[in-house]
Amino acid sequence: MAEWILGIETSCDETSAALLRTDGTHTELGGLVILSQDVHRVFGGVVPELASRAHVQAIGSVVDRALADAGIGLSQVDGIAVTAGPGLVGALLVGVMYGKTLAYSLDRPFIGVNHMEGHLFAPTLEDPELTPPFVGLLVSGGHTMLLDVPEWGEYRLLGQTLDDAAGEAFDKVAKLLGLGYPGGPAIERLAEQGDPRRYRFPRPMLAELEHDGAGRYAFSFSGLKTAVLRAVRATAAEQLSPADLARGFQDAAIEVLTAKTAHAADELGYGTVMIGGGVACNRALVAALRDRLEGSARVSVASPRLNTDNAAMIAAAGAWRLARGERSGWDLEPRDDLPLPGLTVPSPAGRRA
Ligand code: KG4
Ligand code: ZN
Repeated sequence: MAEWILGIETSCDETSAALLRTDGTHTELGGLVILSQDVHRVFGGVVPELASRAHVQAIGSVVDRALADAGIGLSQVDGIAVTAGPGLVGALLVGVMYGKTLAYSLDRPFIGVNHMEGHLFAPTLEDPELTPPFVGLLVSGGHTMLLDVPEWGEYRLLGQTLDDAAGEAFDKVAKLLGLGYPGGPAIERLAEQGDPRRYRFPRPMLAELEHDGAGRYAFSFSGLKTAVLRAVRATAAEQLSPADLARGFQDAAIEVLTAKTAHAADELGYGTVMIGGGVACNRALVAALRDRLEGSARVSVASPRLNTDNAAMIAAAGAWRLARGERSGWDLEPRDDLPLPGLTVPSPAGRRA
């Protein structure tokens, strides 16, 4: 029998609710509401206290609207999935308390979902063929992770960022070029008009790919951001071209992300790669990855609405965990550093074996 799962996401600056209908094999999105908090634009970044307050104000009507879009009432909800971390604790708390209260009063099963696992499940909403094994590249405002996914729920960490996340680098470079927040979409638009030959920025940690060391699949974006800053300072104001700088930065970031992801897919012999998180909205990145993997692996990526933060991906990951009989207790607390469940870090020796 088909079940309705209500997903709730409030980890950062989007208040979102979704209803997913699932019968164990097929899932269908019944309603999805994403309310992006505009208030942070004024400050050029997310202000945690303002985010929490905006979630408190919006959560009730966002859930009601998603139910109305799905054409069901609260009593028809069979299970509730809510983001429990990582994210801003005050923001997460709003969704966790709302979800818990609903689950308690309706007497329905309830599960806390890891936000990054949500991003991993996002493409399944449009691409049911996406099944492990695959290589997953998660690139968001807070994380950059390259994962070997042999099974759902089993995540082998191949590499992650040593400093800034990929999305954070886009946002910081956008800020220093005087573009708005979030910076990713603005950089992408501007880069399209930029000259790819004017700036050649460093490709951080790309050389490590050739060595068999621990940093092979690691990323670093902080030095790249500094290189852009130096180029801005070294260029006379009248010769400054934000488009050329955006292009130079984006090309460097894309080359490193693409090379490491494709190398991992080749090494593991996988025919599927997925890319998720807000930065997966970047069409140049997806095109470069598809180009590099042509003939060897398929690249699965969700549409932009499902790549940036949304509750549908939380409902999808939660539905999978609920179907396995997993439940969270009433003592569930949000955590800003919630680890991805099932995450392992393979040792270099184990990798070679
Ligand atoms: O996954 P997400 O919505 O939120 C987090 O979990 O962090 O990702 C947001 C990040 C921001 O840093 C934003 O600048 C970036 O995704 N982003 C992009 C693009 N669209 C959003 N980065 C590059 N190109 C884009 N088109
Ligand atoms: Zn996210």
